[in-house]
Amino acid sequence: MQIKIPFTKSKVQTINRPPGLDYDHIPKHVAIIMDGNGRWAKNRGMPRIAGHKEGMGVVKKIVRHASDLGVQALTLYAFSTENWKRPKNEVEFLMKLPVDFLGTYLPELIERNVQVQTIGDVSLLPPHTRNAIEEAIERTSENDGLILNFALNYGSRYEMVNAVKEIAAKVETGEISASEVTEEMFSSHLYTSDLLEPDLLIRTSGEQRLSNFLLWQLAYSEFWFTEVYWPDFDEALFEKALYDYQNRKRRYGGI
Ligand code: FPP
Repeated sequence: MQIKIPFTKSKVQTINRPPGLDYDHIPKHVAIIMDGNGRWAKNRGMPRIAGHKEGMGVVKKIVRHASDLGVQALTLYAFSTENWKRPKNEVEFLMKLPVDFLGTYLPELIERNVQVQTIGDVSLLPPHTRNAIEEAIERTSENDGLILNFALNYGSRYEMVNAVKEIAAKVETGEISASEVTEEMFSSHLYTSDLLEPDLLIRTSGEQRLSNFLLWQLAYSEFWFTEVYWPDFDEALFEKALYDYQNRKRRYGGI
């Protein structure tokens, strides 16, 4: 199906929306654990970083497609608080990826009305990574299309402990009492305070665990796993995940 939708605030683009999906029930927020880059590379006798480079290309394809399909927010687990334990050259490469990605792709993101955001402690990233991210956030801040949210130096337990510390400090000063602490208040102290909770979590590479990703926010999300390694993930698989999501019944603990 070909339809015309606003591309930027001033232009209109024609995009292809494949049949089969219910465009009134596209998940608003999709989170992805992009796993399997290393194994993809190893299977080809290549260094692990070659898998990450290939994975970056897939990020571009999926961002375009998510935006075309009407997803409102896409959160990508790009670097966890545990990933610092990897070999130095791999960490350095991973820290350069946002620079390369945004260096070549930022004009298209601006044109596509995408807003770049991050979750995680970006203050600990090297200056070149931080600068690229900050520039992208700044230059897309007026956009109101897809939120492209990179989880960088992100760890869910760290995030929650921080939230507890902030709330405890308010109790200590008497600003609030302990009995006033609510789930909503806790959520508002997380990095994701301005985002809806993910409707759908995708993890590639056959692993079926959360790896310290959005533990609180994924409480009622639908999970979708594939054996495919991230560098081989594509638009058709993304659509399949959305299609399967649309055929599930979300009950939120009810019947
Ligand atoms: C996990 O695969 C993947 C990562 C830790 C990095 C993911 C990063 C990208 C896909 C590129 C991100 C692009 C931008 C623009 C930031 P793994 O290395 O753990 O794979 P393995 O389990 O096979 O070893």
